[in-house]
Amino acid sequence: MSSLEAENKKSSGVRVHKKRLGVLIGGSGLIGGTLAHYFKTKTAEDIDIRAPSSKKLSIRNADDIITYLTWVRPDFVINSAVAALDSDVQLALEVNYFGGVNLARACSALGIPYIYISSAATLPNGENLSEEDHLPLSPSLTHYAKSKLMSESTLRHMGKHQGLDFTIIRLAIVYGEHDHKIQGFHRLFFSLADESMPFMITKKGVQHSYTNSNKIPYFVHHVLDHREEFSQETYHFVDKDPVEMADLILSIRSYLELKRPRELYIPYPVIRSGKFFLEWMASILNWFGISVRLPPELIFLENFYKSQTLSNRKLLNSSFVDPFPDETIYTVLPKLVVYYLERWGHLNLITTFNEEFLGTFEFEDDFVNTPRNILNLIHADSISPFPEMIDLKKTPVNTGR
Ligand SMILES: NC(=O)c1ccc[n+]([C@@H]2O[C@H](COP(=O)([O-])OP(=O)(O)OC[C@H]3O[C@@H](n4cnc5c(N)ncnc54)[C@H](OP(=O)(O)O)[C@@H]3O)[C@@H](O)[C@H]2O)c1
Repeated sequence: MSSLEAENKKSSGVRVHKKRLGVLIGGSGLIGGTLAHYFKTKTAEDIDIRAPSSKKLSIRNADDIITYLTWVRPDFVINSAVAALDSDVQLALEVNYFGGVNLARACSALGIPYIYISSAATLPNGENLSEEDHLPLSPSLTHYAKSKLMSESTLRHMGKHQGLDFTIIRLAIVYGEHDHKIQGFHRLFFSLADESMPFMITKKGVQHSYTNSNKIPYFVHHVLDHREEFSQETYHFVDKDPVEMADLILSIRSYLELKRPRELYIPYPVIRSGKFFLEWMASILNWFGISVRLPPELIFLENFYKSQTLSNRKLLNSSFVDPFPDETIYTVLPKLVVYYLERWGHLNLITTFNEEFLGTFEFEDDFVNTPRNILNLIHADSISPFPEMIDLKKTPVNTGR
């Protein structure tokens, strides 16, 4: 087909692209960022991805979803958006539940697959939990767990009654680079690096499942390529073996060559009282106009004392092949340590490791003491237009879709 024919078909509303086009919601987050990076760098021949920010497309607004997806006409949608763990009822419900359901309704209308990233928060504590397991929907659940559980339930309902082509991917505790909000596992890691955990806040023998964020895109890609096998199914996407929390904490401690936390295990009732005390203190300080925000992960405190391991038998029996079978949280730890200590050092969140990980920055002295030197240097030889881009002015702009 000539480019003119293609252009004519395009203007008459007929789809001409051969590549699949996906829309990724939540592309600035820990999981979404990893997915966006994968699809932009590894699938250029096969898949294109649009990852609108929440400013461009807020899934709280059903009209925005309809307008955006009508304009883009994707071949699939991946939803990895989530409201902050400590958001209020309205945000949790509108982003985590209504937003996800409205995306599913759009996918149902377009007849395209909907990949939904879910969480082990939908599961009770216990060992070797299967994909069929889930918590009962009860008022006492956190907003997060409730909204994820309701989302899963509605997708299955839509699958059964409307034939929605969905896959639910349940993640456990996720580790990986690019967590810009310091959540979940990285919050634990941060409190160790920051030496703000004096004693062990767990119990010996407590185990959890972990998810390697680097592997998620490979699975999502595979799931998209094998709809017959994965459609209307739920999968646990977790590392092969669960990890003992105490062992992980002590491994990180020894990696960072720290003395804290001391190997003294604080019982849960003591920690729980401490949590109530902190919440009380925060509310008192609020009376004086001092706003104190406790880490939202406190909602998971009980999980530090109870095992939750997810069975990965269904995943292992599927056609998916782990691209990095030897990679676990322990093997990735050295890379994570370098990445996060550098990042937190630059952000002035911790200073203990700055010398080791940041080294000296050649412009530091000038910027602090004689900024004009830098200004002069830049004006002297670093402001001419990039030569490799100059000719672009003469070529037409590719508007894309
Ligand atoms: N991280 C974990 O340990 C973990 C564990 C289990 C399951 N999960 C699941 O993994 C998924 C992704 O989590 P994450 O850790 O990557 O979260 P995250 O880093 O907090 O990112 C959340 C993403 O959601 C987007 N978002 C929030 N409100 C939105 C709205 N109204 N419209 C559109 N996008 C919106 C955010 O975009 P903006 O930045 O533009 O607001 C951001 O890109 C979630 O479903 C979560 O339940 C995560």
